[in-house]
Amino acid sequence: MIYLDNAATSFPKPAETIDNLNNFVRNIGGNPGRSGHTLSLEAARVIFEAREKLTSFIGMKNSERLIFTQNGTESLNMALLGFLEAGDHVVTTSMEHNSVMRPLEFLRRSRGITYTAVPCCSEGFVDLEHLGKSVTPKTKAVIINHGSNVTGAIQPLKEIRKVIGDACLIVDACQTMGSITVDMEAATADILCFSCHKSLFSIQGVGALYVREGIELVPLKFGGTGSRSESIEHPVFLPDKYECGTPNTPGIASLLGGLAFIEKEGLANIEAKKQMLRARLVDGLRQTPGTHVYGHEGRAPASYLAIVAFNIDGKLSSDTGYELSRRSIFVRIGLHCSPVAHQTIGTFPAGTLRASPGYLTDEADIDTFIEAVREIAGK
Ligand code: ALA
Repeated sequence: MIYLDNAATSFPKPAETIDNLNNFVRNIGGNPGRSGHTLSLEAARVIFEAREKLTSFIGMKNSERLIFTQNGTESLNMALLGFLEAGDHVVTTSMEHNSVMRPLEFLRRSRGITYTAVPCCSEGFVDLEHLGKSVTPKTKAVIINHGSNVTGAIQPLKEIRKVIGDACLIVDACQTMGSITVDMEAATADILCFSCHKSLFSIQGVGALYVREGIELVPLKFGGTGSRSESIEHPVFLPDKYECGTPNTPGIASLLGGLAFIEKEGLANIEAKKQMLRARLVDGLRQTPGTHVYGHEGRAPASYLAIVAFNIDGKLSSDTGYELSRRSIFVRIGLHCSPVAHQTIGTFPAGTLRASPGYLTDEADIDTFIEAVREIAGK
């Protein structure tokens, strides 16, 4: 079995993820912050430790401002629905995922916000000048997909900040977290949204966002927090203001394992290995007659994540995906929940195949995959 769908979720997970999950479910199992007993306190300690570790992983200091969610989509919804008001203008790009486009479209129709999606080039990079010119005095936020889940294009956050002035910079880092350094402080991002089950190696069902000091969001949810239970008013202090209901503590325990694995391996080594796999994948596909790779040329290798969209000439991505699946090779096909990105790269509505190796993929997997593509292309 060859799994090349790590942009959807990483698989396999490292032993640390599974061991931490197993330990939590077998030996801890309490509901954090809800009871005073040992197991509840131990569960709360797991969440506290994960919050601290993740906060420093993104270069920030105030762990109370790191909010756990269910996934990247929930994080982005909290940011957009909690921050934007009637009359606000938003600038975004034509490479965003539906987890940005759908909330924006909902807010346009329901709350009367307006938004400008700055067109990107066919590789998925935003034009900085165009982006800067799209920001007006009414622009409250700029929303950027840090790394494209379609072409792997990485947007330059520091340069983006230079052209957008003081607008609130909301970053979707679902694909970059754990693949490259995401330093929120250095990037001067204001809200960082991400999932944890991709390259941070938690199990599915864990995401987070960090909200910089000075930014207040209207919460999406209200309810039990285990704090101030005497009041029917929801707490206003962090993180309880934005977190309620029983959290996914087993998932957060697995995230601690994922973070420990990343620390042990070293993020620089992870990045280097994924770059090597990316280059092998792109070269192999390019050398296969009848295949077309979208992007991954003309810029420095560090401008791209190991996420490669491609098609075999004259074949539907679904047919090629099926042929690969019959050979136990798993990739994602279609539009990748990112129709505007596919419009940008010229592959809408048919879509593409997408191969996304992970840190635990090896070179032989890439070679076997290329061989299978060559066979399916009939070359
Ligand atoms: N957004 C994830 C993907 O691109 C699920 O596959």
